[in-house]
Amino acid sequence: MLRIFAMALLALTLAEPGFAMLKPVNLRCEYLKNPLGIDALQPLLSWQLESGTRGARQTAYQIRVKSSPFALDHPAQTLWESGKIASAETGVLYRGSPLIPGTRCQWQVRAWDGNGNPGPWSRTASWEMGLENNQQWGNSKWIGATIDTAYQPAPFFRRTFTLGKNIASARLYICGMGYYELHCNGQRVGDHILDPGYTRYDRRALYVTYDVTKLLRSGDNAIGVILGTGWENVHTRAVWYFDKAPWRAAPKVRAELRVLYTNGVREDITTDKRWKCATGPIVFDSIYGGESYDARLERPGWDTPDYNDDGWQPAIVVGEPGGLISAQAMPPIRATKIIPPVSIKEPKPGVFLFDFGQGLSGHARLTVSGHAGTTIKLRYGERLHPDGTLDTSHIEQHQIKTNPPQQFQTDTYTCKGDSAESWEARFVYHGFQYVEMTGFPGRPTVKNLQAIFTHTDVESVGDFECSNPLLNKIWRNTRWSYLSNLASIPTDCPHREKNGWTGDAHLAAEQGLLNFDGITFYQKWINDLADEQRPTGELPGIVPSSGWGYEWGNGPAWDSAYLLIPWYLYLYCGDTRTLTSHYEGMRRYVDYLTARAQNGIVSIGLGDWVPWKTETPVEVTSTAYYYRDALIVAKAADLLGKPLDAIRYTALAHQIADAFQAKFYRADTHTYANGGQTALSCALYQGLVPEDARAEVLSSLVAAVKSADGHIDTGILGAKYILNTLTDNGRTDVAYRIASQKTQPGWGWWIEQGASTLWESWGGTDSRNHIMFGDISAWFVKALAGINPDPAEPGFRHIFIQPNVVGDLTHASAYYDSVRGRIESRWKLDGDKLTLNVTVPANSTATVRVPTAEPDSVTESGRAQTEWPANGVNRARAEPGALVCEIGSGAYEFQSMWRPGARLAKK
Ligand code: BGC
Repeated sequence: MLRIFAMALLALTLAEPGFAMLKPVNLRCEYLKNPLGIDALQPLLSWQLESGTRGARQTAYQIRVKSSPFALDHPAQTLWESGKIASAETGVLYRGSPLIPGTRCQWQVRAWDGNGNPGPWSRTASWEMGLENNQQWGNSKWIGATIDTAYQPAPFFRRTFTLGKNIASARLYICGMGYYELHCNGQRVGDHILDPGYTRYDRRALYVTYDVTKLLRSGDNAIGVILGTGWENVHTRAVWYFDKAPWRAAPKVRAELRVLYTNGVREDITTDKRWKCATGPIVFDSIYGGESYDARLERPGWDTPDYNDDGWQPAIVVGEPGGLISAQAMPPIRATKIIPPVSIKEPKPGVFLFDFGQGLSGHARLTVSGHAGTTIKLRYGERLHPDGTLDTSHIEQHQIKTNPPQQFQTDTYTCKGDSAESWEARFVYHGFQYVEMTGFPGRPTVKNLQAIFTHTDVESVGDFECSNPLLNKIWRNTRWSYLSNLASIPTDCPHREKNGWTGDAHLAAEQGLLNFDGITFYQKWINDLADEQRPTGELPGIVPSSGWGYEWGNGPAWDSAYLLIPWYLYLYCGDTRTLTSHYEGMRRYVDYLTARAQNGIVSIGLGDWVPWKTETPVEVTSTAYYYRDALIVAKAADLLGKPLDAIRYTALAHQIADAFQAKFYRADTHTYANGGQTALSCALYQGLVPEDARAEVLSSLVAAVKSADGHIDTGILGAKYILNTLTDNGRTDVAYRIASQKTQPGWGWWIEQGASTLWESWGGTDSRNHIMFGDISAWFVKALAGINPDPAEPGFRHIFIQPNVVGDLTHASAYYDSVRGRIESRWKLDGDKLTLNVTVPANSTATVRVPTAEPDSVTESGRAQTEWPANGVNRARAEPGALVCEIGSGAYEFQSMWRPGARLAKK
């Protein structure tokens, strides 16, 4: 025993000096781990720091970047040696020699701590330059099988070629639209699905880079590509007219394989007329309709060099999509979960209903053995008729009625007659909880159908848990709905529309960022918004758009996604680039609103959508977003060093605020407009209530909640304002009451109805997988666990930890893996004793508001406040109900007396 203790002590003493230093970890390039194919010529290199000591901070860094020895045509060399740079930044733009396309870069960083001691060099990370948008593509052509957009079967393409000996490395760059699936020598390449990401293809298409070194060999090789229609060639007729999209074209692909031999010679295989094409088993695919597969038409071995392709036709060279071809610098869509059915019922003879117990986006995997020609039909949905059959009426309603009816959320599989056949759709996804199966030979079991969850594969970066199981369920459902609505664009729902509704996206963005690493995802979609902005500044309600949504479905409460999301990226990541690179577009948008405003009031657009009882005048919410947008432009101008613009837009914001106050404020009742929850919380949340009226307006809001019996009475806009603004104004108790209601209307009522996702409306009659009410989960993290960004020191350089002990909660905890590392806040009540554990990442600081009735009672790691300075904690001030402390990085444990008049329990 003693020996173990002595050894542990020795290990601790030996580890201590090194551990006290700063160790850079989690190196990223453009927020991605060792990415291939980066277009940015000055990519952002970032790292996090680990340290065993409290208060650790970086005072300087040094970066070194070398080209990889693999790139023999550009011999290994130092690309950047930054030298020691005095700075606390942990994200810096590359400033070395110009980066040539295809260059493989390896980099390391080290950091100096507060005592001026350098830490160890980090592990080597890498990135590789791509084809620099359109600039560096070689001889490849866009090829297709036809230019006829009505043509249905998915085309297969192949090309064989012979390679020499000593292959050093090989990269394949591909842009295949609508969707592609890449094969090489009989194998599928990579695990991306529904790739590339959806964009406005005539303005921007995304290419993907693969390392195919291991798949190639000296001698004969084959590459194969299958193309789906995706969003490029939508045949389905619906009210958004994607069948008339200006970019609509038959599927096409451009690809370049670049093979580098060890002697430095490069050989390229590119798409051109030498590629051959044919049709195969995918006889129909449609993003809304589904996929039909006839296994009898399979072409075994089609992607291998030995396959006899005599009957195949030469591919044709087709027109270019017309815009940028940019690197897909974001996580792809992947299949992330396989879900077995929880039950199979047979509501009618031969009609089998599979319930997966969970609403999701994705498709089913079918396993069957049947005679050749047997066709199994799978229909996807999320509601049932009273007789137990599938009801898709509420998700089909925006499809245009045709004769014969269009296929919708339906896959079919026709057997080839093997003993066991397994199949899943490639080029579609559906929104569903249930699958209705017909045509199955015999009685299916749980082995015959599984659900596959597909979505943009963002890494989970946060979690929340508390003593109220209802809130934990809401948290869980929010995550499912968020991911179900992440399909390379943020969507409203995974079935009915699959549209990038801008309002839904910004309402869910903070919650998304606190749960998942969606930074690059949002950067990409902000480019999509820019691609859709008209010269006048207008934006459509859905992005991408076929042209629909400029006349209806937009307005400031939706369009502000173009300003708010860059703002959130700044707030959460400290990265100014999205704000500044879209500055002109954002400014143009605000100017457009100014042109539409009358005396400072904007009355265009959608308002507080899907409200419960009280409808809020559109001009209230629209004008408030106009104000917010003007402030964001002013801030961006400031960051860009445009002081005149900063003054101009700040002045505009003041004018809007004055107009808002003059038009909507009723001094006699201390209310705004109709005095509803949305109007009041909008004014408070957007910062439009003059300081001297705040307390009264807050009381009016609390009274409005009371008269709704503690329930929410807002639509999607108000749902974001109300919880946050009640907390910001010290009434988390009221917000908690709203959030934890189990009766209608509220999130809890959905849960009581058995919801596994968030729904579209409080009434529950619409879609069952919408994310636009999802900000409640961000509120859990900010208000209950207490983790909050500081706009003055964005990117969590400084953090506010402000937990609230409310209602019947006895504990709440959350963590968030920020760009600076893990932030944690965990509190629990034990009788009258509150314990609050806080973790602050190295190189960050935090202001902690420790809830307590007796500020003097607060201890940290068992130490009384008189001992604190030596301990890295500073008592800042006592406030009603709290002791506010300033801390540096590290782990802390505060204990306090929570209830008034209580005494610390004796140990
Ligand atoms: C969508 C919403 C969207 C709304 C706006 C609906 O059809 O599903 O999420 O924000 O329309 O009009």
